[in-house]
Amino acid sequence: MLTLADILDRNARSPAPGLRGHPILGSLPRARRDPIALFMDSFRDYGEVVRFRFGSMVGHLVSSPAGVNHVLAENNKNYGKQTRGYRNLRRVLGNGLLTSEGETWKRQRRIAQPAFHRQRIAGFAQAMVRAAEDAAADLESRRGLEIDMHHEMMRLTLRVVGETLLAYDPTDAADEVGAALAYLLAIANERTSRILDLPPLVPTRENLRFRRALATLDDVVLRMIAERRKSPGDRGDLLSMLIESRDAETGEAMDDRQLRDEAMTILLAGHETTANALTFTWLLLSRYPAAFRELRSELQRVLGGRSPQVDDLPRLTLTRRILQESMRLYPPAWIIARSVIGPDEIAGYQIPARSVLFISPYVVHRHPGLWEDPEGFDPERFADEPPRGAYLPFGGGPRMCIGNAFATLEAELVLATLAQRLRFDLVPGGGVELEPSITLRPQNGIRMNVR
Ligand code: HEM
Repeated sequence: MLTLADILDRNARSPAPGLRGHPILGSLPRARRDPIALFMDSFRDYGEVVRFRFGSMVGHLVSSPAGVNHVLAENNKNYGKQTRGYRNLRRVLGNGLLTSEGETWKRQRRIAQPAFHRQRIAGFAQAMVRAAEDAAADLESRRGLEIDMHHEMMRLTLRVVGETLLAYDPTDAADEVGAALAYLLAIANERTSRILDLPPLVPTRENLRFRRALATLDDVVLRMIAERRKSPGDRGDLLSMLIESRDAETGEAMDDRQLRDEAMTILLAGHETTANALTFTWLLLSRYPAAFRELRSELQRVLGGRSPQVDDLPRLTLTRRILQESMRLYPPAWIIARSVIGPDEIAGYQIPARSVLFISPYVVHRHPGLWEDPEGFDPERFADEPPRGAYLPFGGGPRMCIGNAFATLEAELVLATLAQRLRFDLVPGGGVELEPSITLRPQNGIRMNVR
């Protein structure tokens, strides 16, 4: 029963402060043009809870550790994935782990979880190092030349995720898969903030090209599933586990559609984020040569020229901190969006039902109340645990990244392998533009010289 106190309390809640923006479109035009600046400026001007209007849609950006924890963990049941961004992503990934909800998600997560256990993942270390060694040899043969670092890291991480989780070497198809994925994601992202988003059935040129790119990926993924079905048995990779799994109640196996969606999700979520993290790390190391020298000396001391193994990692503290600091400054998942199911309240402000809620690791990681000199590059700040809720490159709560330990292991091994043998310098005068798409990536790659 509502008490007088409840009613008074409800009335006391006020809308959060925020920008007015365009009279009809609100902040939509700026969100399309430069979403990072929009969010950073709004946080600076209005604080930890900011209200926006995007056309007829109300949105909030929440940037306090308590608010983040409330949305992703404590009250996560009130925050769904029925956002425009996730709807567009579903057109590419279908209903896999990243995009599904409710009982489907719960079942799929339960089935997939054992494939991501720390011990199981440690078994992938050799394959990760082998891929990194091959990449190093290939890059060594191009010493003195210019490369696109993002492209190189994408190839490398695609091979790793293919070989380890899907037991499939996609290297031959890497460029084709990479190009199709890049196109699909760019469109999925662009549609998310588009003013008029035509349904995908309308045969516009874009929709036709979208369907062709999707067919390319489907072809690769379905071939992979068919090959695996021909030689059944658990081979220790995630795809085998998914194929072999049976529903606890019905005893049914997963159908091809669901397998396709899961494999596509892993292929995508499992390589582009890690590639971006590594790419920005090379960029930072080229900008901070002293940090690179210290990294080299750590690698020399611990490894003495040989390739790293899992057991070496606890001693490679600077290697780990450099990656942590790189993901603080350039979190590959720079924005996490949720659909608000029922009305809520955060820090005394109204959060209405059917609105959209944003948490931006990019903004939280630059919160001056949580981080000293937030724009500075200082790996040693990770000598201490960051305050709770201040660091969230992998999200939080039950929907936290399942590939967290996998990505961390891979990035550390790749960095330790390559940095021992090579140095990369940003091409003089070569600027880097951020592209805050679904992931945070460098626009047009990063041109670097191989040394
Ligand atoms: C540096 C690398 C990575 C970063 C920064 C990252 C970041 C994230 C974040 C922030 C989320 C939560 C999204 C949300 O709450 O809306 C997420 C979810 C997810 N990630 Fe990652 N990820 C990385 C690597 C990986 C890898 C290597 C894999 C697989 C091999 C992976 C698979 C997934 C999946 C399947 C989900 C959905 C989990 C669920 O909802 O149950 N990620 N990731």
